[in-house]
Amino acid sequence: MSERYESGLGSWGSRWTFILAATGSAVGLGNIWKFPYMAGENGGAAFVAIYLLCLFLVGVPLLMAEVLLGRRGGQNPVGSMAKLTAAAGTSRAWIWTGRLGALAGFIILSFYSVVGGFSLAYVFNSAFGDFVGAGPEDVAAVFSAVQSSAVELTGWHTLFLVLVMIVSLRGINQGLEKSLRIIMPMLFILLAVLLWYAWEHGDFDQGLAFLFDFSAQKITWQASLDALGHAFFSLSLGMGVMMAYGAYMPKSASIGGAVVAIALLDTVVALSAGLIIFPIVFANGLDPTAGFGLMFNALPLALGNLPFGHFVGTLFFVLIALAAWSSAISILEPAVAWSQQRWRCSRTSAVVVVGCAAWLLGLGTVFSFNIWADATLLGANFFGWIDFVSSSLMLPIVGLLVAVFAGWKLDVASRREELAMRWAWAFSSWQWLLKYLVPVAVVAILAISAWGFVSALQNPFD
Ligand code: PHE
Ligand code: NA
Repeated sequence: MSERYESGLGSWGSRWTFILAATGSAVGLGNIWKFPYMAGENGGAAFVAIYLLCLFLVGVPLLMAEVLLGRRGGQNPVGSMAKLTAAAGTSRAWIWTGRLGALAGFIILSFYSVVGGFSLAYVFNSAFGDFVGAGPEDVAAVFSAVQSSAVELTGWHTLFLVLVMIVSLRGINQGLEKSLRIIMPMLFILLAVLLWYAWEHGDFDQGLAFLFDFSAQKITWQASLDALGHAFFSLSLGMGVMMAYGAYMPKSASIGGAVVAIALLDTVVALSAGLIIFPIVFANGLDPTAGFGLMFNALPLALGNLPFGHFVGTLFFVLIALAAWSSAISILEPAVAWSQQRWRCSRTSAVVVVGCAAWLLGLGTVFSFNIWADATLLGANFFGWIDFVSSSLMLPIVGLLVAVFAGWKLDVASRREELAMRWAWAFSSWQWLLKYLVPVAVVAILAISAWGFVSALQNPFD
């Protein structure tokens, strides 16, 4: 405790705050934008079923491991790993788990902010009535107007990142904790209002059937791997976020209970987003497999022609912006806490330096939508590359390192003490999943990403 105090990092105000903050991190674009479209592309219920298995059998044990390492280390992810490595008497190379995680988070922040900027742009477009009575061409025109102007998109990216930095600057209690107490309840209220709306005005039965009418034939390898990768992303694993947040968690709070609550809330939001989007999509005869544009194109189109659509559409994009905001705040944390301890600088300088660097790197993503759209290397543009390297390579690698370190290197007594589980069977199941199932699953994701990469090299124009 005193060490944490001396390091200047602080700790959460209460045992519930960790759940609040970690849920804010977990619930994001991944739930509202990505989950519905991945389910749409991968056959609906089959994907949902595999996703839930991956989330609870692979994601939950790994999330527990990250939080455990963070709380045991009590510092930023790099400092925590250094301390635990020394205590376990293992190779100092394990410290790279923290470094790679913080670096992956920093890279992801750079483009998450651009997509967050997109959602801010849509809040305004929607509020100003651009989608009222709009046809497919009008909606597509808005999309291309937002993405094609480098200056405008830079503006949205800047605004989004500034909003994130403002919260982070004020520190974990005055900034993160206070804003999350407002953002998270608002998010759940908006979600409930929109669900009711989809129930009233959408084809709810068809939406429900699409998400839950399970047929085993639809299970494919591709769907399974997408599901696993997405479970990872959705729980904010592999970038030191949960380690950094875990370090602020009081010793009295139960890690297992908190993690299960976070995973359940994350699932509730993802499924609700599906139950909002698909009934509206089906009621309007739209295509559930529309992919990336499912939310940015189909939804404005559908809502623009429904009663109160103007208002509800605006609410929907506010919901997305809020969710993206609380996630982005968390992605900034590992790099900020690390800089603060590494260079013994103030939180303010750390936030400004890391934020500005992420802004600069984010310009590459902004330009990937317009002036650099065709500047490709091996078939992918700048955004394609940094997304691939960070999400598909760095996150699974860090996840693997966390699982192996926590499952094989850290002494059993520390694991047991930190988790303080009530039931022996729960502790042994956790250990078993972490030591065997998680590494195998992660190596499978990595192998498939590598395979996808090699085949993309062979057919760069696919
Ligand atoms: N979990 C967030 C989502 O589902 C994304 C995220 C990933 C946030 C990693 C923080 C860290 O959108
Ligand atoms: Na999520």
